[in-house]
Amino acid sequence: MAFEPRFAVAVEWGACAGVALPDVAPPESEWPAALHAGERAFARALGDARRAAWIGGRLALRAALDLAGLPCVAPILPTERGAPRLPDGLTGSISHKAGLAVAIAGPAGHPPISLGVDLEQLRPLRADIAARVLTERERAALPAAGPERERVVLRFFSAKEAIYKALDPWVGRYVGFQEAEVAFHPGGALSARVALAHGEGPFAIELQDLGREAGGHRQPGEQGLAVQVGAEQVLMLARARRG
Ligand SMILES: CC(C)(COP(=O)(O)OP(=O)(O)OC[C@H]1O[C@@H](n2cnc3c(N)ncnc32)[C@H](O)[C@@H]1OP(=O)(O)O)[C@@H](O)C(=O)NCCC(=O)NCCS
Repeated sequence: MAFEPRFAVAVEWGACAGVALPDVAPPESEWPAALHAGERAFARALGDARRAAWIGGRLALRAALDLAGLPCVAPILPTERGAPRLPDGLTGSISHKAGLAVAIAGPAGHPPISLGVDLEQLRPLRADIAARVLTERERAALPAAGPERERVVLRFFSAKEAIYKALDPWVGRYVGFQEAEVAFHPGGALSARVALAHGEGPFAIELQDLGREAGGHRQPGEQGLAVQVGAEQVLMLARARRG
């Protein structure tokens, strides 16, 4: 079966879910029933290259909303900036890579927060992206050249992509990699601060690397399936709030 659920877990900020992605979407008759009619119509119009990932992202987001006890009766279509548009009171985000689509969803809260997620496959990088993606201080914290350095660079990258998605509803513009700074602390904790070029904010950012915390395979909790991301994947969550 295409789009099989891979995991769905309660997290501090709501719920996170993943579904397996086929290389190519199957015929519409085989699309899971959880996909809203409005989403089906949208997916029908997409090219083959995008369709499977887009459907998988919606299914992961709906699974996360369900687990968080936040059902959404409206179709989840993209905003003009490409983010999933959720009804007022809900926040959520999608990422897909290498056969897996993931999503996080939760209540938008009072005062409001917004969530972002990013999935990356740890791999040898084609180019050293550190100069473009990392600030001077972040580069100073890198290990010497080698696979560990590449892993750390990719984790910085993933954290910034998740931050980007969490900030998007607030700022609605492209945010450059130099506008956010991430720090990894002993024991695996992460922190970040943003200094936005257009003076927006201030924003408080929190980060969580679910892939790392899961150690690749979290034991099944009381709610939902175990997280099934490999040890070679980064599953980064970000939460943004004003303040
Ligand atoms: C938009 C962007 C974050 C997407 O990341 P990606 O690694 O290419 O792709 P992912 O699979 O992780 O994410 C794709 C999903 O992101 C979501 N998305 C797209 N644009 C978005 C936006 N502006 N805001 C929030 N989410 C967005 C969509 O849900 C999309 O999936 P869908 O089209 O199937 O619904 C990335 O392409 C980008 O433009 N980054 C900007 C630079 C940046 O990250 N700066 C960091 C500064 S802190």
